[in-house]
Amino acid sequence: MRTAIITGIGAYVPDSKLTNEYLESIVDTSDEWIISRTGIRERRVCAPGQATSDLAILAGAAALEDAGLAATDLDLIILGTSTPDQIIPSAASQVQIGLGAVCAAVDMNAACTGFIFALHQATALVESGRAKRVLVIGADALTRFVDFTDRATCVLFGDGAGAVVVEAGQEPGILGIDLGTDGSGGAYLGVPAGGSAKPCTAETLAARDHFIHMTGSEVFKFAARIIPETLERSLAASNLTIDDVTWLVPHQANQRITNTIPDRLNVAPEAIASNIAWMGNTSAASIPLLLNDLYTDGQLNPGDTIALVAFGAGMTWGSVIVRWTKERTR
Ligand code: ACO
Repeated sequence: MRTAIITGIGAYVPDSKLTNEYLESIVDTSDEWIISRTGIRERRVCAPGQATSDLAILAGAAALEDAGLAATDLDLIILGTSTPDQIIPSAASQVQIGLGAVCAAVDMNAACTGFIFALHQATALVESGRAKRVLVIGADALTRFVDFTDRATCVLFGDGAGAVVVEAGQEPGILGIDLGTDGSGGAYLGVPAGGSAKPCTAETLAARDHFIHMTGSEVFKFAARIIPETLERSLAASNLTIDDVTWLVPHQANQRITNTIPDRLNVAPEAIASNIAWMGNTSAASIPLLLNDLYTDGQLNPGDTIALVAFGAGMTWGSVIVRWTKERTR
């Protein structure tokens, strides 16, 4: 049977670090509050002039090198992002030309669930025979949309990109997937102005509506409920249970959200990966960044079962169960 397997992985984060100490100097917050309420110590921030596509190109190139492929080998590039360089054209079009690929490229916006949605599309296309090799990237530059006078949001977000190559194979690779969207929660998290509903004007700028607005407590409750629910569905679709999972790789939004997972699922805290302390919430990039950390740390072995799970604005959610097949090459 034709399957979809991950054959390459890579990541990129900007050099510049934004520390809690610096945030203490610009808003009424404290290192202690940020660490105890979120688990975040620092995040990475794009350099002036650096855009989402720049991060995505570097992550994509690293994943291609890891897979031993050239950009011209690709059939498709899917970029999960909600912070494209600009509204038109897509950021993916800049990734295509930046990598030197000759295939189609498209953005997919499911906010922080963008990488999971993109991985689902790539899997379906590869399994069906419509594509042989797809580059799936999660990249976001959320700090470009953060109001650095709003202490409730500016402490959370960072910038980065992660990527995987999905290729056709014969052995089990990408297993069960569960995705969902519930637009009734659309008001909990978003950027109110700059789209077709509320184009940017002097008034929207004055109201700071071109920045992220969030009702954090609602997002928190939603995430704590949906993470175990979606994981149960994708595990059932894989004919597996949580006991089979080697690594749980959750979207990195808040360590306190992650810490609720063992309350509802019988998973050992040591099996739940985390890098939020050093990256913050990098939106669609967080899962491939964390997966890449596990890979480069030598923590992923062929045969391991990995559960990826995310939630985001929309509201959206999704989980993917992966049987890891790749030997470490770096
Ligand atoms: N420093 C100090 N105090 C703060 C800060 C801060 N940075 N931020 C908020 N506070 C204050 C609030 O003003 C409030 O004060 P009050 O009691 O005097 O009114 C108090 O702390 C408690 O505020 P809460 O919002 O209740 O704090 P909570 O413990 O819920 O933590 C947080 C807030 C961290 C935002 C949490 O709700 C959260 O993580 N929610 C989920 C957010 C999330 O995951 N977003 C990303 C989704 S993914 C995507 O699609 C982008």
